[in-house]
Amino acid sequence: MTHQPIRTLADGVHVVEARQRFFGLEMGARMTLLELDGGLLVHSPIAMKPEDLTPLGSPKWVLAPNLLHHLYVGPWIEAGLEVYACPGLSKKRPDLTFQEEITSQQSPFGGDVKLLPLACFGLTNEVVVLHQPSRTLVVTDLVFNIPPSAPWMTRVAMRCLCGYPGCKTTLLERIGMQRDLARRELTTLLSWDFDRIVMAHGEVVETGGKEALRRAFQWLWKKKLLA
Ligand SMILES: [Fe+2]
Repeated sequence: MTHQPIRTLADGVHVVEARQRFFGLEMGARMTLLELDGGLLVHSPIAMKPEDLTPLGSPKWVLAPNLLHHLYVGPWIEAGLEVYACPGLSKKRPDLTFQEEITSQQSPFGGDVKLLPLACFGLTNEVVVLHQPSRTLVVTDLVFNIPPSAPWMTRVAMRCLCGYPGCKTTLLERIGMQRDLARRELTTLLSWDFDRIVMAHGEVVETGGKEALRRAFQWLWKKKLLA
């Protein structure tokens, strides 16, 4: 996996992007780095080594934020970092030893971040992170924002999955989410103060993120599957 250089989005918010295929589709992958009071938090690591982040300081924590984003956490555990996981990942990856699973909004990463483990979608069990100083919501697969510049097969497949164009969920969430619970959890997320959304796949939404998230989940408040 080759990756791009570290890119700074805001004070204390950096990302590194890499190529990543998922079921044959080029989806890209983004790792997010948050500079917090207690140290550097690495969200959804890609294939990099802790020493590659030296310009930003020593990483302290790693978050494997959902059940599909855990492929590259092993080396970070071996390097001695505190690696946290979404609920259920310890069972899925018994070969890895995590510090603990994030099962509540209690943040082990200090007061600059808020956490919300989403229980409404068992395929991912995603933990969403809000970086309060920069008003940045960091999600993983909760929404995608595949750009027109993406390979045509990716665009066609995501369109078929109701995941393109723009900031979108996919058909999988429409089918698999527990809607009552999802409405409650999304209402909590939408009450948080953020403007930017950083996701693992697609283009960062630099501003207007709350409205983009609201639009992406419009279907959740409608009766029809494809509304
Ligand atoms: Fe993903």
